[in-house]
Amino acid sequence: MPFLITQYFTGMIVTIDGPSGVGKSTVTKELATRLGFEYLNTGAMYRAVALAVQRLGVRLTDEAAVTAALPGVHVELPPGCVVLNGENVAHLIRTPELSRGASEVSVHRAVRLMLVAAQRAATTGRDMICDGRDQGSFVFPLAECKFFLIADARVRAERRVGELAAAGQRVSVEDVMRDQDERDRRDAARELAPMAPAPDAVILDTTHLTSKEVIERLENIVRDQRACSRHR
Ligand code: DC
Repeated sequence: MPFLITQYFTGMIVTIDGPSGVGKSTVTKELATRLGFEYLNTGAMYRAVALAVQRLGVRLTDEAAVTAALPGVHVELPPGCVVLNGENVAHLIRTPELSRGASEVSVHRAVRLMLVAAQRAATTGRDMICDGRDQGSFVFPLAECKFFLIADARVRAERRVGELAAAGQRVSVEDVMRDQDERDRRDAARELAPMAPAPDAVILDTTHLTSKEVIERLENIVRDQRACSRHR
């Protein structure tokens, strides 16, 4: 009897992790467009959970109370939206308060386990680029391509101040650096799935690169990797 060769399409996962303000979401969106992949901005999920918990009047650092609130929190990320219990909250979650809040709730085990399960379910069988802090190291240990972006803290803060100025908000580089530093420390120090490069991640220092240059480097690596996996 002849062999029946069946190819299962499992999709390709690319992960982009790194500290706050390093430019992950800009790079992720453009790279996804160029490659024809979908993308998952996992930070938006933590931000939506922080918003939900804050609306309930629960202290974000109170692990027991946050955990108790989770059964009433449903977060979905259809393209271009962040849906919290049926409401698109995408325009509400990009505040400095929720940046800090997302980092605070992300420390809690139950929050992480809920969102990690949702992230894995959302990517099944798809070509997807996922950005966050733990995508390569914890959520998708078998991802085909893993990146960890880094950049000088002051350069990251200056980029952020520029973005806020373009949106009509004035903040000082020092204030942004203080928040950024506090968040990075908390994200790297938590017990479950701390921010860290996966052992097999490509670490790219973007301090002296434009986002276009970063995207081009990542795109070349992903295309090479994809060509290589197709021949295996
Ligand atoms: O990427 P961001 O700035 O939107 O993320 C907000 C916070 O969410 C971040 O400070 C830590 C948390 N986060 C996380 O713990 N794990 C992820 N995969 C993504 C974000």
